[in-house]
Amino acid sequence: MKSILITGGAGFIGSNFVPYFLNKYPDYRIINLDKLTYAGSLDNLQELNSLVKPTDSPKVVRLANYVFIQGDICNFELVSSIFEAYDIRGVIHFAAESHVDNSINNPRVFVETNVVGTFNLLQAAYKHWMGQPGQYKADYENCRFHNVSTDEVYGSLDILPDVSSWTENSKYAPNSPYAATKAAADFLARSYYQTYGINITTSNCSNNYGPKQHSEKLIPTIIRKCLAGEAIPIYGKGENVRDWLYVLDHCKAIDLIFHKGRTGETYNVGGVNEKNNLEVVQIVCELLDNKLPRAAGKYSDLIIFVADRPGHDLHYAIDATKLKTELGWQAKESFETGMAKTLDWYLEALHATPQLERVI
Ligand SMILES: NC(=O)c1ccc[n+]([C@@H]2O[C@H](COP(=O)([O-])OP(=O)(O)OC[C@H]3O[C@@H](n4cnc5c(N)ncnc54)[C@H](O)[C@@H]3O)[C@@H](O)[C@H]2O)c1
Repeated sequence: MKSILITGGAGFIGSNFVPYFLNKYPDYRIINLDKLTYAGSLDNLQELNSLVKPTDSPKVVRLANYVFIQGDICNFELVSSIFEAYDIRGVIHFAAESHVDNSINNPRVFVETNVVGTFNLLQAAYKHWMGQPGQYKADYENCRFHNVSTDEVYGSLDILPDVSSWTENSKYAPNSPYAATKAAADFLARSYYQTYGINITTSNCSNNYGPKQHSEKLIPTIIRKCLAGEAIPIYGKGENVRDWLYVLDHCKAIDLIFHKGRTGETYNVGGVNEKNNLEVVQIVCELLDNKLPRAAGKYSDLIIFVADRPGHDLHYAIDATKLKTELGWQAKESFETGMAKTLDWYLEALHATPQLERVI
């Protein structure tokens, strides 16, 4: 059985990816390495937890083809030992500090996890699969490392008036400490391909939304505030534009790139769903007006505008033509259909466990 190491599989995207991947590839053994920071939770993997048998260590759980290990990618010895113990043949690397606001207040942990952690994984993969530049060990030739990254590495589009979206050839211009550390990780991945010839792909994706997203992010915040009847805060005038992608569409893109992408290549992933923050809030409010009407008025009555975050990029837009032309991927969900599914999930989760503060 081929072992694939997934890092950050208890976070938002990782915990959507792991069940999808396990179902689709029963012949893989998935090793999920996650530190369980404030952003990760085994509750996100409930569909697997019910199948999991307890082991001697509370930090390790096992199924026939699934292992969860609570651990830190910044610990090189741990990462190397996992490659050895499970004979890892592929990596899909999600683990990161991911919240821009937190990166402004505490950038150090972003450098540690996003840069040093990524370096550790690359180095451990190189040692386990290759050992010397340009030469894979026999039987390891097909081992691949997929680096999950963000469109935030390109910076804000408004600085270039004649450019309407970022392609894979656009210049990196990260503006937040989060984006800078993700850019550094992408460059490290690139260097391991260029220098050592390790089989690497990278994807740069736009904003995701969907089930299991941490409560600190925009869409869970909107839903939480709506349901509590509290003010919905929007940075500045709500003019910041992002491209939005339903999380399962992102998972499918990663699966495709991991299996069929060209080595050494980067692929942009986006939903062609550009919306400014005010539009996003209004769509969520309208969907909620229909699903769960509020006696006191419309949900959009709760909108307030608050001081903008420093260095807030005005406009991101992603050109995912390469992924479509080369690998045939395109997003299945529009913002409205994906958001309706997302709201159903949150309402269902809330119904099942009314005290689910962590979820929303
Ligand atoms: N959420 C988005 O909109 C988005 C868009 C594009 C790219 N990405 C990228 O996708 C990846 C996953 O994003 P997400 O939104 O699921 O993030 P998240 O913050 O929800 O989850 C991150 C996970 O990584 C784990 N983790 C953090 N530090 C760790 C460490 N040192 N060792 C091991 N595990 C650690 C956390 O416990 C958590 O489970 C990130 O690399 C992010 O940059 C996210």
